[in-house]
Amino acid sequence: MLSTSDLLAHTLAETDFHPRLPQQRRLYEAAKAAIHKQQLGAGSKLPSSRDLARDLGISRNTVIAAFEQLAAEGYVHSELGSGTYVSDLQAHSASMRGVGSAPHTPRAAAPRSTAASVPLSRRGQALTSFAAGPRFEIQPFAPGDADFSSFPFKLWQRLQNRVWREARADLLDYGQSGGYLPLRQAITEYLRISRSVKVQVEQVMITSGTQQSLDLCAQLLADVGDTAWVEDPCYWGARRVFEARELKLHPITVDSDGMALEEADLATTPKLIYVTPSHQYPTGAVMSLKRRRELLEVAVRKQAWILEDDYDSEFRYTGRPLAALQGLDNDDRVLYMGTFSKVLYPGIKIGYLVVPPALINGFKSALYDLQRPGQLMVQAALADFIALGHFTTHIRKIRQTYGARRELLRRTLVHQLGAQLAQTVTISSEESGLHLVVELPDRVDDVALEKLAAESGIQVKALSTYYLAPPVRRGLLVGYAYCTPEKIAYYGRLLAAVIQSGVR
Ligand SMILES: Cc1ncc(COP(=O)(O)O)c(C=O)c1O
Repeated sequence: MLSTSDLLAHTLAETDFHPRLPQQRRLYEAAKAAIHKQQLGAGSKLPSSRDLARDLGISRNTVIAAFEQLAAEGYVHSELGSGTYVSDLQAHSASMRGVGSAPHTPRAAAPRSTAASVPLSRRGQALTSFAAGPRFEIQPFAPGDADFSSFPFKLWQRLQNRVWREARADLLDYGQSGGYLPLRQAITEYLRISRSVKVQVEQVMITSGTQQSLDLCAQLLADVGDTAWVEDPCYWGARRVFEARELKLHPITVDSDGMALEEADLATTPKLIYVTPSHQYPTGAVMSLKRRRELLEVAVRKQAWILEDDYDSEFRYTGRPLAALQGLDNDDRVLYMGTFSKVLYPGIKIGYLVVPPALINGFKSALYDLQRPGQLMVQAALADFIALGHFTTHIRKIRQTYGARRELLRRTLVHQLGAQLAQTVTISSEESGLHLVVELPDRVDDVALEKLAAESGIQVKALSTYYLAPPVRRGLLVGYAYCTPEKIAYYGRLLAAVIQSGVR
């Protein structure tokens, strides 16, 4: 049998340590591994520090430091005048169960459960059962993705450097009071001018994006079991949040004028109403003025909150951006939210939520208590980016690029599909957003076409998968913003072939 010195020498020689890891850490790791593998069992006596130092050819201080660390973490204990012994790791869990306690209970060495063996909560299981899994790599025609390569890196670097040079310690703190004030001021200005939002700076909260804005609304404005009206088809992100907060989802049909309330819907009483009125996600419908007024009236009557997700209104390729629903609200029932995910880049994780005056204090304190926001340095750079006019310039530039890509995709598909299919397939014609909807006849299995397209490296999404109720329309969501003209031309041809094969 190997002596303890030989065992540790062997482990040290065989383990692939980081080259800069100090000798005492190596010895500590080797001993810990031997204890975990029970090569050194409970009660085994370790050699004296002098002997082990000699056997391993290292200094005695190094051995003493490693032993001290092992003792501090409960792997070994020393008995006065006798030596150092391996502790009984099982004793800890026994004492935790109240079965009895060992004299030298290790602190950090309690047996750890593996992730697989930890049962999730009931809510956790429900949530993960439909989780999409890790984010996939963006492939041609993935809907919703913008072209981050057009981000003004150099300019951003200058703005960011300036903030860091100022060395303002207050910007290293959590983002208190709803976020960095100059950013909230810049957003207020932008929303008033570009989106006709009725807003004072106190109403603007900086969040880490729409997902967080929605989650805050769900937590603060609804209780478990309350009803949320959602558009059908619906943005999956909003659906997830409401499901996670255990709200009852009530799907409302969407037509070419947006959310279309029917008698049966009006018989229910929602706490929340989630809408994308400027550009319904995913169909692209713009909510008519009549419907907007009706919805506001219903919200007042039912004492419900409207959550207006204005996620991509910067991308309107002809005419002026449409006014927000919030601007028509005279009763403070609308919470308006926007994001920089699309206009700048998703990883910036900055969005904004405009709440009615009566909700300001509640939302501010919940934002702080529940989310602990931060990133004031980035918020400061973004505030400058907007205030100095770069934001408007950037939007103008990408709007042109995306508008041209949209047109190219449309032309490519129309041309490739040919006159015959033009009768049965409709390509959405509204001049905004980041994707087109290619609407297919009801009999076509759009999920099968999505899979078929994926085989050609194309990442379109089936329209039917966005429905809660049985789907009433079939089609494919085709993103173009991320695709260069060359890719649009090449993959557009492949996609047309996929569509042809499914429709014939
Ligand atoms: C309708 C809609 N809202 C919001 C978002 C994104 O918001 P955020 O990244 O700020 O959570 C998306 C992104 O795809 C979206 O489609």
